Amino acid sequence: MPPIFECEGLIKSFGGLTAVNHFELQIEEGEIVSLIGPNGAGKTTLFNLITGFYPPDSGSIHSDGRSLVGLSTHQITQLGIARTFQNVRLFPNMTVLQNVMVGQHSRSKSGVLAAILRLPSFKAEEERVMAKAKEQLEFFGTRLVGYRYDQPAYSLSYANRRRLEIARAMATEAKLLLMDEPSAGMNPKETEEITELIGQLRDERGFTIFFIEHDMRVVKGVSDRVVAMDYGSKIAEGSYAAVSTDEHVIEAYLGRVSEDGADGR
Ligand SMILES: Nc1ncnc2c1ncn2[C@@H]1O[C@H](COP(=O)(O)OP(=O)(O)OP(=O)(O)O)[C@@H](O)[C@H]1O
Ligand SMILES: [Mg+2]
Repeated sequence: MPPIFECEGLIKSFGGLTAVNHFELQIEEGEIVSLIGPNGAGKTTLFNLITGFYPPDSGSIHSDGRSLVGLSTHQITQLGIARTFQNVRLFPNMTVLQNVMVGQHSRSKSGVLAAILRLPSFKAEEERVMAKAKEQLEFFGTRLVGYRYDQPAYSLSYANRRRLEIARAMATEAKLLLMDEPSAGMNPKETEEITELIGQLRDERGFTIFFIEHDMRVVKGVSDRVVAMDYGSKIAEGSYAAVSTDEHVIEAYLGRVSEDGADGR
């Protein structure tokens, strides 16, 4: 069986800057893999290449043996790859429930526009879609259910917006979930919770997970494997214990501290 995710020789430049440089990686079904690296290392760009936001300059990307290069973001979602964004991207004026339903409609026949316009073709499956959306939201306990269903996304706390974005990605029925800094902006308790939740996404919902994370408590807490990136290239890969003590990784982080005179965030 080909791996659920595989990329080789991936290169992406912006002008003179090579954001992703000969990157390669394989992920097997059921794994939780985290991607670490200092600011500007190319992590989000890698996600943008995988999900079709940008085409790579060269290299290959495959999921279950199918090439993703040249496909639209929509086609890639339909092949079972969903993502969340570093800067949360929701439909702020749509309700919590509608935001998740849109995720599902990225797979359904009637499509997003029909969902928004409430066309007859949409109404026929509305019940089913709504029930499914509620099921995704229940995954987050009591935080996004009940009266929250009908609240506009903009009214939610930052942490809840992040959760809602995960729910929307779950609703696409993806097999591979890419999450860009799921714990960003969360307090320690929420961070602990999201760590547990990432584990549950795999154990209870069967997702394979590839996530970018700066918070080492999350990385340590839930990763089967850690990949470290700097200047667009993979600089280390292995267990948390191995990668967190790898001299290239330590240098990459320390280097950025001395360049910026800060912790680089
Ligand atoms: N659309 C773009 N146009 C030009 N440069 C870009 C673009 N996207 C990313 N870059 C540059 O590519 C490099 C990698 O950026 P990227 O966002 O992938 O880093 P990152 O590892 O996600 O960093 P962070 O931890 O800060 O989120 C940076 O130098 C960034 O400025
Ligand atoms: Mg980023």
